[in-house]
Amino acid sequence: MGRLAINGGDKTCNIAWPTWPVWDDHERQGLLAVLESGQWWYGERVREFEEAFAAFQNALYGVTATSGTTALETALTALGIGPGDEVIVPPYTFVATASAVLRVGAIPIFADIQAHTLCLDPDDAARKITSHTKAIIPVHLAGYVADMDRLCEIAQAHQLALVEDACHSWGSQWKGKGTGAIGTCGVFSFQASKNITSAEGGIILTDIEQLADDCRSYTNVGRRKGGAWYQHFNAGSNLRLTEFQAALLLAQLSRLEAHTLKRQANAALLMEGLRDIPGVIPLENDPRITRRGYHLYPVRLNLDALGITRERFVEALAAEGVPASPGYTIPLYRNSLFERASTDPSSHPYLGDRVDYRQVHCPVCEQVCTDTFWLFHTLLLAEERDMQAIVAAIRKVCENAAELRPA
Ligand SMILES: Cc1ncc(COP(=O)(O)O)c(C=O)c1O
Repeated sequence: MGRLAINGGDKTCNIAWPTWPVWDDHERQGLLAVLESGQWWYGERVREFEEAFAAFQNALYGVTATSGTTALETALTALGIGPGDEVIVPPYTFVATASAVLRVGAIPIFADIQAHTLCLDPDDAARKITSHTKAIIPVHLAGYVADMDRLCEIAQAHQLALVEDACHSWGSQWKGKGTGAIGTCGVFSFQASKNITSAEGGIILTDIEQLADDCRSYTNVGRRKGGAWYQHFNAGSNLRLTEFQAALLLAQLSRLEAHTLKRQANAALLMEGLRDIPGVIPLENDPRITRRGYHLYPVRLNLDALGITRERFVEALAAEGVPASPGYTIPLYRNSLFERASTDPSSHPYLGDRVDYRQVHCPVCEQVCTDTFWLFHTLLLAEERDMQAIVAAIRKVCENAAELRPA
């Protein structure tokens, strides 16, 4: 294989990887049409997108919001979750999964993830249930789908809400049903890096009409269906999208299915190619995930065998021509936000002595935070032959890891 590129050897590949966002005349025409109509405010295009996206994920109702974060906060508020309540979340996720819980005054309780899926471990989630638990938020990390059979069973048995954080899983399906439409409700993000984007934006999906109406009310300053313009029924916020965002999202949605299928096919090639590389720990595929909308392609490394850090691996891989990210490098509960909640009562008045985040340990997540890196979804939009280049670069770094070990 030869010397690693980071040490002066030849690069494995020189590929101009696809950039993001992808856009064309659909977006241009949609934006121009909104501009010229003079109807820029929360109107028919927002409704059209809400209906189309809900249908795409097999949900009955969709309510947009300004981001995935505010969509999560809205869902929790509409479910009546507040001070004193506990909500079970995984620690291998973006901060919003847990900060949304804090922002409604409730208490995030961390349960570990599974090493082979990187999603919430249903058994650990079940162990963390107390008489204060009101909801579980599984994250469909990277577009994988958390074990929704077990999680639905657990939620039903304990009468808990199941709020899917589907902010990585547009297009993913569990036994033929779209994510976000399986639990009580689900939440998606349309932020700039996401597989369908309007720079910022989010949506809540549900099959429960009353919940959808309550979410609508909270995102629209407390107004209600049939109420007068200046009648406000709760202290909701203004979390409305604009028609410009909806025009972008409708255009993006028109190619989501084709993009999803392409990413899925390329990911299958990667999975096949990486399966037998010593140094790579294969992740599993679950046949119940009938479609997988990859936001990321996570790769776990056997660092003991390689004798180097994940950071060094990622640097060497970049030098071979394959960009990657170390991803989440610490479990969420190790962020100072949570330490502060435990040491400074004023930062989270409802926590009391319920949980000391400095004592929380989720060993699987802690391991994954050191040994996993991510390939971005844009790489999965490249050509089939480019997947062979990714595999070759990863194999080369694994086989020559000795070159990277400290002397
Ligand atoms: C798992 C997860 N949940 C929630 C969010 C929040 O979405 P937004 O950035 O749109 O607020 C993100 C965003 O990256 C995310 O990755």
